[in-house]
Amino acid sequence: MLAFCDLKSQYLKYKNEIDERIQNILNNTSFIGGNEVSLLESNLANYTKAKYAYSCSNGTTALYVALKALGIKEGDEIITTPFTFIASSEMIALIKAKPVFVDISEVDYNLDISKIESLITPKTKAILAVSIFGQMPDLNSIKNICKKHNLYLIEDAAQSFGAKDDLGNISCNIADISTTSFFPSKPLGCYGDGGAIFTNSDELAKKVKLLINHGSEMRYKHEIIGLNARLDSIQAAVLNVKLKYFDEEIAKRNEIANIYTKNLKNCITPKVKSGYKSVWAQYSVRVKNRDLVVKKLSENNIPTAIHYPIALYSQPCFKYLDYKASDFKVCENVTNEILSLPFSAFLDTLDQEKIIEIFNKGE
Ligand SMILES: Cc1ncc(COP(=O)(O)O)c(C=O)c1O
Repeated sequence: MLAFCDLKSQYLKYKNEIDERIQNILNNTSFIGGNEVSLLESNLANYTKAKYAYSCSNGTTALYVALKALGIKEGDEIITTPFTFIASSEMIALIKAKPVFVDISEVDYNLDISKIESLITPKTKAILAVSIFGQMPDLNSIKNICKKHNLYLIEDAAQSFGAKDDLGNISCNIADISTTSFFPSKPLGCYGDGGAIFTNSDELAKKVKLLINHGSEMRYKHEIIGLNARLDSIQAAVLNVKLKYFDEEIAKRNEIANIYTKNLKNCITPKVKSGYKSVWAQYSVRVKNRDLVVKKLSENNIPTAIHYPIALYSQPCFKYLDYKASDFKVCENVTNEILSLPFSAFLDTLDQEKIIEIFNKGE
C-alpha cells in the first residue's frame, strides 16, 4: 500500500540531524525541558511573530489550557464549527461550557461567518474558529464580530501552522489565543504527541505558562491548579530540525496540491481563497460516489481517509445538545462527500500520477 502521509521519506531526508539531536539528549539526559524546549519556543515565536509561544503535550491539551487561561467556565457558550476533529468541542464540553455549532462555508469548509452573529447570546464568551485542512477562515472578519460583542477569539490552528491570510497575517498570531498540534502527520509534526499555544497578551501568557506546569513557576510552589501538559525534549528536538525545512515543505505541498487540482476530474477540488496560503493539512475532494471511489483506489493499493465521517452535532457524546443534522445543510453535504487523498511534501511524482489516473478512470 502506498503511504497516505509519507513520514518515512521525510525522516530519511533529515535523519542525520534528527538522530544526532536525539542522541545528544540521550547523552545529557535532559528529557524534560532543557535547551531543545526553550529553543523550540523561541523558534515558534520567531516563526509566527507571536509575542509568546509555549510548547505543550498535544493539540488537545493546548485547547484545554487556552480555554482555562481565558477563564471559560461552566455554562458559557462558545460558537464553533461542527466540521472538524472532536478535540475543540470536546475541550469546551470537558470544562462544562457549551459548544454552539454554526454551519460551514461551501468555499473553505470553515465556519460560515455570516451565520455567527445570530447565535450570539448573553452567555456567549468566545468564538473558536478551526482552520480546517490548512486554511484559515477570514479571522479578521471574525475578530471584528468579537470586538463588537466583547468576545474572545480562539484559533484552533492544529491543521494550519504556517498558513497565511490575504494580508500576510500568519496563523497562530491573529486570535487572542491560538493553539496547534504537532501530531506526526500534521504539516509540522513530531515523533509522538506535541502541541503549542500562542498569544500576544502578557496576562494570558502568564496563565498559560502556569497551567502547563502544575500552576507552578517555582518548584513545589503552586499558584493555581494546573496540569502536566509539557512537551518533552525529544519531540522538541525533532521539531527544531523540521522547522528549518518547513517553508520548503510548504512550497512543495502547494505544488503537489496544484497538480491534483489541475488534473482530478469528476469531483469538487478544494478552493483556496484569493491571496490566502494553505499549508494543506489534507488534500480533500468532494465526490458523489465516495464508496465506489474508495473501493477503486483501495483495489490499486491507494489509501484514502474521510475527514470527517460524522459531524460533531451527530456524535453520540453530543446527543445532549439536541441538534438536528438537517439544520446544517452545507456540513451535511460536505460530510457525505468529502474524501482525502494521499498527501505530503514527499508524495512521489509517479505515485501521484497513478492516483490521478485511477481516480479519473470511469467505472
Ligand atoms: C483541528 C484539530 N484540532 C485539534 C486536534 C488535536 O490535536 P492532538 O491530536 O495533538 O491532541 C487535531 C488533531 O488531529 C485537529 O485536527
